[in-house]
Amino acid sequence: MITSSHDVVLVGGGAAGLRAAIAVAQSDPRLSIAVVSKVYPMRSHTVSAEGGAAAVVRPDDSLDEHAYDTISGGDWLCDQDAVEAFVKEAPEEMLRLEHWGCPWSREADGRIAVRPFGGMKKMRTWFAADKTGFHLLHTLFQTSLQYTRVVRYDECFVTKLLVEDGRVQGVTAIELMSGQVRAITAKAVILCTGGCGRVFPFTTNANIKNGDGMALAYRAGVPLKDMEFVQYHPTGLPFTGILITEAARAEGGWLLNKDGYRYLQDYNLGTPQPYPVLRSMELGPRDRLSQAFVKEMEKGRTLSGPYGPVVHLDLRHLGEKVITTKLPFVRELCLKYQNIDPITELIPVRPVVHYMMGGVHTDINGATPLPGLFAAGEAACVSINGANRLGSNSLPECLVFGARAGRAAAAFAANQPEASPSVLAQAAEEQRRLERELLHKTEGRERIAVLREEMQRIMENSAGIYRSGAALTEAAGKLRQLQERFRHVALHDHSRTFNTEWTAALELSYMLDVAETIVQSALRREESRGAHQRTDFPARDDQRYLAHSLAYRNADGSCRIEYLPVTITRWPPGERVYGK
Ligand code: FUM
Repeated sequence: MITSSHDVVLVGGGAAGLRAAIAVAQSDPRLSIAVVSKVYPMRSHTVSAEGGAAAVVRPDDSLDEHAYDTISGGDWLCDQDAVEAFVKEAPEEMLRLEHWGCPWSREADGRIAVRPFGGMKKMRTWFAADKTGFHLLHTLFQTSLQYTRVVRYDECFVTKLLVEDGRVQGVTAIELMSGQVRAITAKAVILCTGGCGRVFPFTTNANIKNGDGMALAYRAGVPLKDMEFVQYHPTGLPFTGILITEAARAEGGWLLNKDGYRYLQDYNLGTPQPYPVLRSMELGPRDRLSQAFVKEMEKGRTLSGPYGPVVHLDLRHLGEKVITTKLPFVRELCLKYQNIDPITELIPVRPVVHYMMGGVHTDINGATPLPGLFAAGEAACVSINGANRLGSNSLPECLVFGARAGRAAAAFAANQPEASPSVLAQAAEEQRRLERELLHKTEGRERIAVLREEMQRIMENSAGIYRSGAALTEAAGKLRQLQERFRHVALHDHSRTFNTEWTAALELSYMLDVAETIVQSALRREESRGAHQRTDFPARDDQRYLAHSLAYRNADGSCRIEYLPVTITRWPPGERVYGK
C-alpha cells in the first residue's frame, strides 16, 4: 500500500474544497495540505453552476434583508446564527474572489452587475454571464496553485475515513489510474464532496454526485441532518436533466402551460407585472414553482413530451441581444441538447432534482461531532438553507463555510499529534475489503446498473415533490432489500487501471446509504415544510417539527432519526409571502 501523510486532507476539489484548502494554507503556512478528488478539480460539479452568487452589494439592500429572504425561503428551518454569519461574510468573500481574478459581469458604469433571483426581494445575485461556476472554480483553482503546501491527489477515490482513538486520522483512497489503494493520514479531514442528486433518476447533477462524503461521515457515526429536504429546480431540459438557469427567468423569461398561459399567477405568487418584478411569479422560490408544476400536470394543463410532461420556458420576448450577452450558455445548451433556438422557439422544461438542503451535520465552523472531521459546501448541513435553498445562495455558501471550515481545521490540526501507527493496519484491512468484496469477487448474480435504476425509481416514486407515509414506508422496505441484494453484486472487470465498474459499485453503496436517510427522515417528518410536502400532513407543524432531523446509522446498518432544535435569533416563524 502507498502511504503518505499530511496535516489536513480535503476530500473534494470543487468550490468548497479549494476555498477550504486556501484558507488552511493562509491560516498556517506550516501545515501540509492534501486535496483528494475523484476527478480533476476543474471537472468538479461547481463548474456547471450557472446563474450566480448572492451577496449584498447595493446601497438599497441590507444584510438583514438577505437574512430574512433566506430564512423565510427556508421555511424557518435555517439556523439563524449561521445565516447571519453567512450574509455578513458573503460580500467579503465575493470581493476577495474579484481580487483573485474572478471576472464578475459589470454594469456600463463599472459597478458589479447584479440580477434578481428566485425568492430574493432585492437584486443581489452577482454573476459572470451564465457561467458563474466555471469562472469561480477557475479563480479558486488558479489561486490554490500559489500555495506549494497544497498537494493534489487528482483522480483518487476515497473509500473510508480512518478513525482511531476517537478522532479522524486520515482516509483510504483508490488511485484510479493504477488501482492501488493509498492510505493518506491526517490530523484533520474536511469533506467537500458535494451533494447526492444521482440518487434520483432525473437530475441536474453530474454523474460524480453520489453522496460520497455524506456516506463516509454516516458510516463513521456522524449524523446526516435534514436529509428529507430535496430541492427540485423548476427548469430542467427533459431527458438530459440539464439545468436551464434561473437567470433565464431573472432576465424576464416566462413559464407557460399548454394554453400559453403564465400559470404561476394561479398559485399565490403574484400577477404579471412589468419586468423586473422581484419574488413574484417566475421568481418565486423553487419549492413553490416545482409544486405548481405538479398541480398544473394534475389539472391536465402541461404538454406531453417524449420524456414525460413539460411546460414551456419562453425567452423570445427578451430578444437576441439579451439572450446572446446575458444567457449565452442557455442558448448553447438548448441548441446542442434540444435542437431549439430560444431566440425564436419555446424551451420545454420540467422540475429536476438539483440540490440537497441536508448533509453532514456541522456547527457554524464546519466541525462535525467527530473530532477532526469537518464538512463544507453541499455535502454539509450547517444549516443556512433550511427546508428550501434560495437560488444563488449555494456558491457563496461554499466560499463562506469552505473558508470557515479551513480555518477551523487548521487550528485543530495545529494541536494534534501525528496519526497513530495502528491507522495503517486499519487502512490495510480496508484494502483487503475492497479487493475481497468487489475487485476479486467473481460469484454474484446482481448487477450495479440494475440496482441503481431500481433505487432511483423508488426514490422518484416515493421521495419526489410530493410524498406520503404509505409510499415512504414501502420505499423504506424496498431500499433495505436493495442493501441486501448489493451484497451479491459481482464485477465483470477485475483489472486495476481506471476500473470504473469498481468505483461505480462503491458509489452505489454510498447512494444506498444516503437514499435510506432521505426516506427515513421524510417518513418521520409528519408535516409539510418547504421542499418536503406530505400529502397526508399538508400543514407546517412548528409545535412538533421546528427541528432538524438527524439520521444516525445503527450498528446493524439501519437508520434511526433524532431531532435537534432550530436556532432562532431574531426572526420568529412566520408565513411565507410572495408576489405582488
Ligand atoms: O438556476 C441556477 O442558475 C441555479 C443556481 C443555484 O442553484 O444556486
